[in-house]
Amino acid sequence: MAFPPAFLEELRARLPLSDVVGKRLRLVRAGREFQAPCPFHNEKSPSFTVNDAKGFFHCFGCGAHGDVIGFVMRHDHLTFPEAVEQLAGVANLPVPRTAPEDRQRYEHQKSLHEVVEAAARWFEHQVRLPAGAAALAYLRRRGLDDEALATFRLGYAPADGGGLRMALEREGFAVKDMLETGLVKQPAEGGRAPFSFFRHRVMFPVADRRGRVVAFGGRLIEGEGPKYINTGETPLFHKGHLLYGLSRARQAAAEGKPVVVVEGYMDVIALVRAGYPGAVAPLGTAMTETQIETAWKLYPGRERFPILCFDGDNAGRRAAYRAVERVLPLLQPDQSVRVAFLPTGEDPDSLIRGRGVAAFESVLAAARSLVDVVWDMETEGRGFETPESKAGLEAALNARVDHIADRAVQNFYRDEMRRRLREAFWRGPPRAAAAQSGPPGAGRYPSRPLRPGAPRPKPVAATGGPLQRVPRPPAVVRQRILLATLINHPELLDEYLESLADIDISCPDLGALRRGLIAFATDEPDAGTAVLCQRLRERGLGQVLDDLLSGTTYVHAGFALPGSDSETARRGLAGVFAPLYNARIGRELQEAGRQLGEHGSAQNLSRVLVLSRELKTSVPGFDDQD
Ligand code: UTP
Ligand code: MN
Repeated sequence: MAFPPAFLEELRARLPLSDVVGKRLRLVRAGREFQAPCPFHNEKSPSFTVNDAKGFFHCFGCGAHGDVIGFVMRHDHLTFPEAVEQLAGVANLPVPRTAPEDRQRYEHQKSLHEVVEAAARWFEHQVRLPAGAAALAYLRRRGLDDEALATFRLGYAPADGGGLRMALEREGFAVKDMLETGLVKQPAEGGRAPFSFFRHRVMFPVADRRGRVVAFGGRLIEGEGPKYINTGETPLFHKGHLLYGLSRARQAAAEGKPVVVVEGYMDVIALVRAGYPGAVAPLGTAMTETQIETAWKLYPGRERFPILCFDGDNAGRRAAYRAVERVLPLLQPDQSVRVAFLPTGEDPDSLIRGRGVAAFESVLAAARSLVDVVWDMETEGRGFETPESKAGLEAALNARVDHIADRAVQNFYRDEMRRRLREAFWRGPPRAAAAQSGPPGAGRYPSRPLRPGAPRPKPVAATGGPLQRVPRPPAVVRQRILLATLINHPELLDEYLESLADIDISCPDLGALRRGLIAFATDEPDAGTAVLCQRLRERGLGQVLDDLLSGTTYVHAGFALPGSDSETARRGLAGVFAPLYNARIGRELQEAGRQLGEHGSAQNLSRVLVLSRELKTSVPGFDDQD
């Protein structure tokens, strides 16, 4: 009977050798050791030593030598298991019962692993046979070359329901094991032979954390039926625990590469091939708590922030929100997720195939922190005009934050939500503060001591920590929205470049961003958001950018989000531009009107007419307060 090594270690650690020996002999301390006349041979002077640090006894006289278990065996004349039992009693450690059944269970697991591995090999071979032609053609259509087939061990399960079983039986595998691993099913009517579960499907082997195949996904090639079927629960495979791509992702995470959670088999394959070996996917279900924990455990270091990718459409957003609900209770310091939204109608596979790796890179670059997503969940598509609805928002956000179990994380979330609420609903300082800090009207601007009659201070840019951030007046909010939209949708830059150059931007930080955007649009017109953000950071605008792309900007402007589709973003942008643009034209118009009044020339009249035609029709939803 074998004891687990860990148990024996524990036993030795719990029992200082000198204690055990000291119960049986009179030990005398000698430096770091103890001495006694040797109990294993006849002697007068003590040549028997006990060293606790090493955990060994040794007799210089007769050469007797051993550890605590060996000592008890020799001294008490016990067998190894008997000595272990006895010492476990002294140490108060329960003895793990390893019975012959355990050995059998281990052997059985091993045979299950072997039969699944043999099936994977067989499927891989089938795709190369004439019967596998349709499967091979399908894989080729999806852009998979031989290298990809070999890497992901893609295969084909033939339409014939008996081939797999017969092939595996010929290799000496038991039908019982095939049934247990879900490779074959027993028909309901008695007497008929078990038949293949996967028939006429492209096969995606699913490996466990050690890279051993434990299950399969099978994709429909043609005809009727569910698009994918997956191995059910087996002794080797628990759908809700495992992630497709797990063993490769572990290696990737260890090398510091991002862990990216996507939806499907094909997405993982596309990402790995595109240089994201950290890609994983749940197996035909929404991401479970266990799978999130599994993703976190992939990280070797302290910081664990896998990126969850979702479709940009409504269903994707709902899926993201459900995932957030699942993640919130599990947050820990340095342990969270980031959330990325794909363009509508794309999955990572189609995006990379259609628009290249750079397109996916910008999706990842625009990944949002969890706190942003929580804020969006409660604010998106809603107005908060009344005090009641504002209070309602506060309550809803608090309820979300309450779900965070970790106290420290919860507190910081609460602070952050409070800050965002203050910022979003800021309408001017309280009366008392306004009265103290300056004349009426100065309230929109940061309070700093004013002399009556002094020129209005310019709004100051955000400085210091987020908690001291200065509230923003509405025109700045619109400028922020439009800059964010253009950064998240650089494809619109070309169309709006001129208007962008035309509007007044008062805040120096935002002005610098605009310069960066214009430079980018002229230098690298076809590069995406990722490159653009990179360029802006190179200009030292990293902090301004991060601040701009935080959730607050999107409160009333869902269209500005990276995930929104281009047309929605374009319409939204037009709406924000109009009042900003009008504000400038309005000022010019005023000046032209003044000149016309002074000098009623045809030229001055035509200038007024041209300018008034320039005014854009106001777009509902954006009140013009400038
Ligand atoms: P999708 O339908 O998004 O699959 O389902 P996909 O990966 O883009 O598939 P292709 O590109 O059409 O081949 C995502 C995942 O959901 C599971 C599978 O794990 C799939 O990869 N799924 C989907 C099922 O389990 N059953 C289904 O019928 C469909
Ligand atoms: Mn797909």
